[in-house]
Amino acid sequence: MQMSQPDMRGSVAPGTVVVVTGGARGIGAGLSRYLAAQGAAVVTADVVEPDDADGGITHLRADVSDESSWQELVAAVLERHGRIDALVNNAAIYQGLGTKRPFTEITVEEWDRVLAVNTRSVWLGMRAVHPAMKAQGRGRVVNIASSTVHMGVPWFAHYTASKGAVIALTRSVAREVGADGITVNAVAPGLVETDATRALNDADYLAASAGRRAVPRAMEPGDLAPVVSFLCSEGSGFVTGQTLIVDGGVAFS
Ligand SMILES: NC(=O)c1ccc[n+]([C@@H]2O[C@H](COP(=O)([O-])OP(=O)(O)OC[C@H]3O[C@@H](n4cnc5c(N)ncnc54)[C@H](O)[C@@H]3O)[C@@H](O)[C@H]2O)c1
Repeated sequence: MQMSQPDMRGSVAPGTVVVVTGGARGIGAGLSRYLAAQGAAVVTADVVEPDDADGGITHLRADVSDESSWQELVAAVLERHGRIDALVNNAAIYQGLGTKRPFTEITVEEWDRVLAVNTRSVWLGMRAVHPAMKAQGRGRVVNIASSTVHMGVPWFAHYTASKGAVIALTRSVAREVGADGITVNAVAPGLVETDATRALNDADYLAASAGRRAVPRAMEPGDLAPVVSFLCSEGSGFVTGQTLIVDGGVAFS
């Protein structure tokens, strides 16, 4: 008896060209490695070099808050691969936020910088890849938001505002580009145990967060990667404008 081939459209297909911003460190590095392991041609864009260079991943330097950086990045990816199938807007100021503090103590400079890196970058990125994706008649955009938006996490006002705007932007742009064959979705992770979260939160807070989950354990970068892969895949083509909360079941949308 002949076995039918399994339907693999729910994972990123080998050869898919994916740009991951902030892919040198933390969650972005984990996402990049996962997608590359599935056969994707991954290009990361970051302001720092990766700690562990992975031969299968191309690392480019780019400041995602900067318009001209995006033009150079997109030109470099198109020259190398001829197309851009998916963009994962992951880069953000998160680890660099420092200690949580009241909204009254955030300076205008900090506010503007966080909004530029966490929100303007997402708009600039979608704008930069749009001509190529439209010409292809296909594209996937995944914007990394945060469940802090849904939870109303205090002492983090610039960060939560920047991520709330990412969710709003995801919805608006999804409506504008659906007819071009492009989907735009957001993923809102809960507290992922990375070096960044361990630096920003004490152990008691991390343990309490894990205990509040319907699935009561620490969240790992590996909990996020398959969800991002799905949203970059062929099989997610009828899902757009959505925000998928991946937090083990704390906030429900
Ligand atoms: N860690 C968590 O618990 C958590 C939870 C929810 C959402 N998130 C989101 O997930 C994403 C990744 O988080 P992380 O924990 O890996 O954060 P991180 O701070 O450890 O890493 C962010 C990456 O973005 C890069 N970056 C910063 N500014 C940049 C710029 N201007 N241009 C290009 N690259 C830049 C950094 O160099 C770094 O590699 C972020 O969008 C973050 O807001 C994280």
